Order: sequence, then C-alpha cells, then structure tokens
Amino acid sequence: MSASVVLVVTEDEELLAHYVRCGAEAWNVSLEAAWLDFEMRAWVQLRLPARRPLDVCNIGIGVGTWDDWLGHVLDLSIVSVDRDPGVCRVFELRQRRERHPHPATVVCVDVLDGMLGRQRFDLVISVGSTLREAGDRSQFLRMSRASVRPGGVLLLAEVGMGASPEAETVKRLGDLWLACTSFNE
Ligand SMILES: C[S@@+](CC[C@H](N)C(=O)[O-])C[C@H]1O[C@@H](n2cnc3c(N)ncnc32)[C@H](O)[C@@H]1O
Repeated sequence: MSASVVLVVTEDEELLAHYVRCGAEAWNVSLEAAWLDFEMRAWVQLRLPARRPLDVCNIGIGVGTWDDWLGHVLDLSIVSVDRDPGVCRVFELRQRRERHPHPATVVCVDVLDGMLGRQRFDLVISVGSTLREAGDRSQFLRMSRASVRPGGVLLLAEVGMGASPEAETVKRLGDLWLACTSFNE
C-alpha cells in the first residue's frame, strides 16, 4: 500500500514564492532591463490610441509588470494572454491582492494555436522575449494580426541580439537590441 501526500500551497505562499523568485533574479534589477523597460514603454506610449472604448490585448505576461503598466496608463482593463497556467494564476492573484484598479482579464492559451478564437481587438501588443520564446515567428505574427480588428494596430517590441529587417525603430545598448514594429490592419 502506498501513502500519498497532498501538498496544499496557500495563495500567500504562492505569492511570496513569486516575489522572492523575482527579487532574486539579477536580470530584473539590471541596467539592461531598466533600459529596455524605458524604451519599450516610451515607444508604445506614443502609439496608444486616445479614443474610448478600446479593446486591448497583451500577449506574454511573464512577471506581469508590463500588463500592470498598460492597465494603469490606459486606465482600463486589458486582456492578458499567456500559455503558462502558473504565470496566469499568479498574475491574476497578484493583481487582485495588490488591488490593481483595472485588473486584467487573463486568458491562458497558446497564441500559435489560434489565440482567442473570434475575439478581435483595437490594439494587440507583444513585447520583450515573448516572440522569441514563442518559437514560430511567422505563425505568431499571423495569429496576432488575425486578432486585430480592421482599423486596429499590432505593436511589437522584440528583444534579442540582432535587428529584425522590417523593424521601423531599432535601438541598441551594447549587444542588446530592441526592434519595434507596428502593423496597421
Ligand atoms: C519572459 S515573458 C516576457 C513578458 C513581458 N511582455 C515582459 O517583457 O516582461 C514571455 C512570456 O510569453 C509567454 N509566451 C511565450 N510564447 C507564447 C505563446 N505562443 N502564447 C502565449 N504566451 C506565450 C511565456 O509563457 C512567458 O510568460
């Protein structure tokens, strides 16, 4: 007979583990991360439509501070998408516990599999390492563009070690580059 152990992790324990993990990561407090964050926000902020209502979707949550910022700067609740169920759970929980004024609607799905079905947005955004992590760049672009409604825009800010040829804005800090492109649909 085998004994089974059920480990119960409380919300507090899960959140504490998240904060400790993020705090221990040297990259999160690096000059490069601060530079990227500034450049990406500055580029995106100039392109945020002023009109309301506005349906906005961000692809790739990760730590989630980018989604936090979008909710604040747009003063509305966005749709946040990530394929990792753990990332989605902790982000939803953290925004609730931190009392974000516009908590996101979190959707756990792989964008390469068709993302949000028939749902369409005025603005779709993806920044940082998401595109590189996604694997299939052209499928990612196809699926992201398909979820922008006519007249809407897709904003991409890619990070890596070489510029993408179609990028409209490329910035560099040493070996690190940031390539920003907008697609008007
Ligand atoms: C490292 S994070 C970066 C996120 C954030 N935009 C930033 O710059 O801080 C990348 C996230 O994208 C998610 N991701 C990667 N490929 C994806 C895909 N095909 N569909 C949905 N989420 C994806 C990963 O699970 C991960 O949480």
